[in-house]
Amino acid sequence: MYNVADYRAAARRRLPRGLFEFVDRGTEDEKALAAARDALDEIKFLPRTLIDVSQRTTRTTLLGREIAAPLVVAPTGAAGLMAYQGELQVARAAAAADIPFTLATGSLTAIERIAEIEGLAKWFQLYIWPDKNLSRELVARVARAGFEALVVTVDVPVPSNREYNFRNGFTLPFRPSRRNLLDVLSHPRWLLGVLARYAMTTGLPRYENLPESYRSRFTSAPMGRAMPKSDSVTWEDLHALRRAWDGRLIVKGILAPDDAERAVSVGADALIVSTHGGRMLDSALPAIRALPAVLDRIEGRVPVIVDSGFSRGSDIAKALALGASAVMTGRAPLFGVTVGGEKGAADVIEMLRTETLRVMGLLGAPTVGDLDRHHLCIPDGWQLPSARAMEYPLNSKENGWE
Ligand SMILES: Cc1cc2nc3c(=O)[nH]c(=O)nc-3n(C[C@H](O)[C@H](O)[C@H](O)COP(=O)(O)O)c2cc1C
Repeated sequence: MYNVADYRAAARRRLPRGLFEFVDRGTEDEKALAAARDALDEIKFLPRTLIDVSQRTTRTTLLGREIAAPLVVAPTGAAGLMAYQGELQVARAAAAADIPFTLATGSLTAIERIAEIEGLAKWFQLYIWPDKNLSRELVARVARAGFEALVVTVDVPVPSNREYNFRNGFTLPFRPSRRNLLDVLSHPRWLLGVLARYAMTTGLPRYENLPESYRSRFTSAPMGRAMPKSDSVTWEDLHALRRAWDGRLIVKGILAPDDAERAVSVGADALIVSTHGGRMLDSALPAIRALPAVLDRIEGRVPVIVDSGFSRGSDIAKALALGASAVMTGRAPLFGVTVGGEKGAADVIEMLRTETLRVMGLLGAPTVGDLDRHHLCIPDGWQLPSARAMEYPLNSKENGWE
């Protein structure tokens, strides 16, 4: 295994097709997924030479915490299906690598189990639900468990259209059909190593972090219904959440500079520019293209993180040189844990780190802070028109949070 693509290829062989595609693919015609790759490839490097890079390091500071690399494990509600106790394994790999780990609302591992991992920078990804009591209870549980940051995902007002899941007969929770049973039976390593192992130990996995009324074994209800609806959530809710949560508040799924401005004005401590890995809105502007205008608008007031389609250290270096504080990675650690458990996830994280370090050396940038836009050639026309900042009066008194 020399790179993330090698892990992806091995994961493809290991997993039932329905499960692999659930992780790997985008939505509808997958234009957002392809555009993310193209956009990263369109940026070219302009290296600087004869600079002493012998002391180069990826160590950096993010939200007041020193971390080994400007990398964060993204929330993915599926690691627990890729490998037995996959989320625990990825979280342990992140702890060993000294980078933050984000547990998803839709994960199969309880908040409290992740909380036990020592030394880990723990972030929790939250979908705000219109039922404020449910959201409030979950936030309180996250706070009790000692998580330091809440990552609020705002780019899923409605579920996306992933036709391949239906074509594969693969929905989450899983519903057995002739097609998907054949798929599972023809991948015995996964069947025995993951599914059967769960069945013989803890039982089939459940959404451990959903409110009790929504929890189910993953064989018992079709996907859309596993998550409470959140199509009426607004900025008012984010504002109220800001008051209810004392820790770091990070807003994930921002593309428009105006939304970035608004999130900061509501009290966000950091932003994540993201297309959700190309899994939600097809033809969305690639995150790496949206990044410069967001950074220009925010002018360093809060750290800006980016994700969606980063699979090489050179991709990461491009985002850092544009001005991002860190890159989140979603699929890569999932492929790692699928193939090699905790060791595989750790290997993938280390590959991304060393690739980034090598590119920094080749660019003449010994530290993350030395990377800047002078190291890049960016295609013309990438800047979005920077609309003037708007006023956002907010009133959360009447919306049920307080
Ligand atoms: C299988 C899978 C499940 C995901 N689940 C969530 C989720 O529950 N919440 C969320 O905010 N993002 C979720 N994401 C999006 C990731 O957090 C992240 O934005 C994306 O994967 C980054 O792109 P990359 O996979 O190309 O690194 C998921 C992504 C994948 C691949």
